[in-house]
Amino acid sequence: MSDEARPRRTAVVIPAAGRGVRLGPGAPKALRALNGTPMLIHAVRAMAASRAVSLVVVVAPPEGATEVKNLLDAHALPERTDYLVVPGGETRQESVRLGLDALPEGITTVLVHDAARPLVPVDTVDAVIEAVRDGAVAVVPALPVADTVKEVEPAGKPGDPEQVVATPPRARLRAVQTPQGFDRDTLVNAHATVALTGEGATDDAGMVEKLGAPVVVVPGHEEAFKVTRPLDLVLAEAVLARRRANDGF
Ligand code: C5P
Repeated sequence: MSDEARPRRTAVVIPAAGRGVRLGPGAPKALRALNGTPMLIHAVRAMAASRAVSLVVVVAPPEGATEVKNLLDAHALPERTDYLVVPGGETRQESVRLGLDALPEGITTVLVHDAARPLVPVDTVDAVIEAVRDGAVAVVPALPVADTVKEVEPAGKPGDPEQVVATPPRARLRAVQTPQGFDRDTLVNAHATVALTGEGATDDAGMVEKLGAPVVVVPGHEEAFKVTRPLDLVLAEAVLARRRANDGF
């Protein structure tokens, strides 16, 4: 088959191996329920809602891989979507790499999506995939920031005053979300090249930037917010309640 005739298959890697410490005590974040359904299942369904996605790779907490596999078996996904579960690592960067290692041949576009962003609308997923298929090697959904952002010299102790270093012009700043979309070879190369330091990269597109490859931003969505703190759970349930009410009409 010539390159042009080859179908461009898209897979999503969902890092879901974090403990979710900022959410308070309890199960790993991805397994906490929103409206009775684990956050991870919402996130997997949000990806499988795109007709372009043929495979979802879930990177599970290492000790919870069997539980995650059972959960996915118990919740219906569209027939066109396959899924795999692999054990994750100590950092998000490691977890994503372990997910990439599990991709079969034939996948040319890879999305990376945080399990902690369970409510991203399918239009955002499709817009990211389309931008990659149109030739971008790295695509990030993002929103303008509401707050003015300051760069500081972090304090030695929590709560101590911090010295402001700079105030970047707000109009040039974007808050980035997921799913981020990539040409597979570019993302694999970034993960093979960028060394793991400290807590590792929290953003895959940032790793591609370090390679010197171009990264573009497309419009994100307010419902793609990350569930990090207890108040985010309240907001997520409110979004689901609004969707149910709208579906009723
Ligand atoms: O901690 P944070 O909210 O930035 O995590 C973003 C995503 O990365 C979450 O979906 C989390 O489950 C995942 N993660 C992971 N492996 C880790 C740490 C975080 O898959 N070791």
